[in-house]
Amino acid sequence: MKYLEYKNGDKMPILGLGTWKSAPGDVYAAVKEAIKIGYRHIDCAAIYGNEKEVGKAISESIAENIVVREELWITSKLWSNAHGRNNVIPALKQTLADLQLDYVDLYEIHWPVAFKTTVLAPEKPEDFAINEYPIPDTWKGMEDAVNQGLTRHIGGCNFKVAKLEELLLSSSIKPEMMQVEIHPYLQQNELVDFCEKNGILVTAYAPLGSSDRPAGMKAKDEPVLLQDELINSLAQRKGISPAQILLGWLTHRGIVAIPKSVNPVRLKQNYESVEIVLSHDEMGEIKGLNKDRRYVDGSFLIVENGPINKSNLW
Ligand code: A2P
Repeated sequence: MKYLEYKNGDKMPILGLGTWKSAPGDVYAAVKEAIKIGYRHIDCAAIYGNEKEVGKAISESIAENIVVREELWITSKLWSNAHGRNNVIPALKQTLADLQLDYVDLYEIHWPVAFKTTVLAPEKPEDFAINEYPIPDTWKGMEDAVNQGLTRHIGGCNFKVAKLEELLLSSSIKPEMMQVEIHPYLQQNELVDFCEKNGILVTAYAPLGSSDRPAGMKAKDEPVLLQDELINSLAQRKGISPAQILLGWLTHRGIVAIPKSVNPVRLKQNYESVEIVLSHDEMGEIKGLNKDRRYVDGSFLIVENGPINKSNLW
């Protein structure tokens, strides 16, 4: 395994297991199998609705002496209905109870958009609470979580550069990780460069193109990343799978990848992708695929006459 190092010396495995879209009935077996294969990094979130099952798999793996807590890197995320300084710790405590852990390694603001505390998914403008819970206020709650030892590191997801700049200015504990969608169709060069210059690590979600997203999140005729011609011809040439090309491309850039799988064969294949070496020319060929194609475009945040639109979100 390869690792990225945080400022305090903590090491995060560059490849983790994604759990978004893993049904509660599947994720328990997937996490247990992943830990057996060697995965030491699990990416979770309260809104995925499966943290209890993930927690059961983790605690059993520890009880069975397959792994110790200190070897694991567990990330979770604050949902948008728990923004605001005073709401962060209770939300994180719920996540910790579900995961059966005393602390997470990394806690992230899932989206830089606040909802009313009673709202899981906004339907109308009144469901938002953007003025009530500005990001700097929520971030104070994230800092409280570090100070109380409930998380070792804090970060965010789905921030654009301008929002990250604001956060850097208003924070006393700086964000150390930014998780965004990244793959060859959405290479995020500006954000990755900004993070590198500011000492922020980067995680790529949807590294395989997330083709198991709910139908309502899919555009008609969208390009299927795993079926890309170049990715497939490179895979054939190197005798590896298209998914391994996509994951190798990320880790080669020093970006954490969290592919989701609930299938033992694919879990192993994805785990082994960290060993893949891509040449300068191969990286160059893949660079040519960028088309700023977002699969997870945040459209669930866009309601008629609401505060969020594509241009202020991205
Ligand atoms: P499955 O869970 O049945 O393996 P992403 O991580 O970008 O969200 O993509 C997840 C999707 O990719 C899921 O449909 C998952 O299916 C599939 N997947 C995961 N690993 C591989 C692989 N190595 N090859 C092909 N498809 C994969």
